[in-house]
Amino acid sequence: MIIPYSRQFIDKSDIKTVVKVLKSDFLTQGPNVSIFEKNLSKFVGSKYAVAVSSASAGLHLSCLALGLKKNDILWTTPNTFVASASCGLHCGAKLDFVDIDINTNNISIKKLEEKLEKAKKFKKLPKILVPVHFSGQPTLQDEIFRLSKRYKFKVLEDASHSLGASYKKVKVGSCKWSDIAVFSFHPVKTITSGEGGVITTNNKKIYEMLLNLRTHGIVNNFNNLKKKINSKWYYEQQYLGFNYRLNDIQAALGNSQLKKITKFVKYRNTIADYYFDRLKNLNIDLPTINKNVVSTFHLFVIKLRTKNLKKYDEIFKKILSNGIGINLHYLPIHLHPLYKKMGFKKGDYPVAERYSETAISIPIYYGLTKKKVDKVIKILKRIIK
Ligand SMILES: Cc1ncc(COP(=O)(O)O)c(C=O)c1O
Repeated sequence: MIIPYSRQFIDKSDIKTVVKVLKSDFLTQGPNVSIFEKNLSKFVGSKYAVAVSSASAGLHLSCLALGLKKNDILWTTPNTFVASASCGLHCGAKLDFVDIDINTNNISIKKLEEKLEKAKKFKKLPKILVPVHFSGQPTLQDEIFRLSKRYKFKVLEDASHSLGASYKKVKVGSCKWSDIAVFSFHPVKTITSGEGGVITTNNKKIYEMLLNLRTHGIVNNFNNLKKKINSKWYYEQQYLGFNYRLNDIQAALGNSQLKKITKFVKYRNTIADYYFDRLKNLNIDLPTINKNVVSTFHLFVIKLRTKNLKKYDEIFKKILSNGIGINLHYLPIHLHPLYKKMGFKKGDYPVAERYSETAISIPIYYGLTKKKVDKVIKILKRIIK
């Protein structure tokens, strides 16, 4: 039996909640969707929340709602899942990346500032920046916000890893320092809805646009109709949108899981503390967590100190063959064939590249027993010398 790097935790109340929906009148978007949206926005402290079929869908809709168009520019970090960048490509935008900070593995503010200054000179400033709270540790959100005002770009937080995280006592998703935040509820995340996501914002216009785009660009709110027909049957397609809806079964599961978020995040932090203590003398670098943040520890990434990729590969295989389901988060986006075709190459973002040749995500999730954590530690100590 493999111990995975992460997995969902489903209890009896989750199952009961889902079964109740299956016996109800609504399988697709029903009452549970708006309850989930309300509960989530209350939890993070945002004005609005829009449930969607995945974070990938949420990032795409958000780019559209922020007005990203062909040949506009979107920047993100290379150390993320491809969806943080694909959202820009889906809108026809041009992509670029900002290298990471060697300690936190998050976007480097220093490099961001330098790149913005250069881009200003060449009139190539981004329209949107997508900072990613990698592994559940928030980025330096107030500093990114300060730069967004100076260089006039929008901030779209990819908060896929970070439901339950906070920065300077402010919950990620409150959008205090951003325009929009997007969460993922894929089963490895802090809570799950099977597949799913939620977008949060404090901007009413953006909120209404997201609602429309989620359902084909169809408008039926009388105040927003072009033709003022006050009826129960009239609707207008005003934009080209999608079916990116979350269904009621998923929303009910999300709701039931949301009740456990504090417990889930606390448990992940307890495992992290245990790893910090038991792995501190091993020849690896442990995560650096800033003082003013609460991380969700969606991931616990250790970094090998070897500079030899063959050695990394050897160690990776050995750990896997001992039943520990480790993973690499992430291969830098710009090194995927799709991006190489666009002209990106090795050497463009050296910190993220070096990081990816050393990083290993080890198991961390709610319900991972002490016995299993001890097994992980024992195997790591035996293999990494
Ligand atoms: C950083 C990041 N962004 C976006 C996504 C996409 O999330 P989803 O699977 O909900 O579309 C993921 C999922 O793994 C992710 O890790």
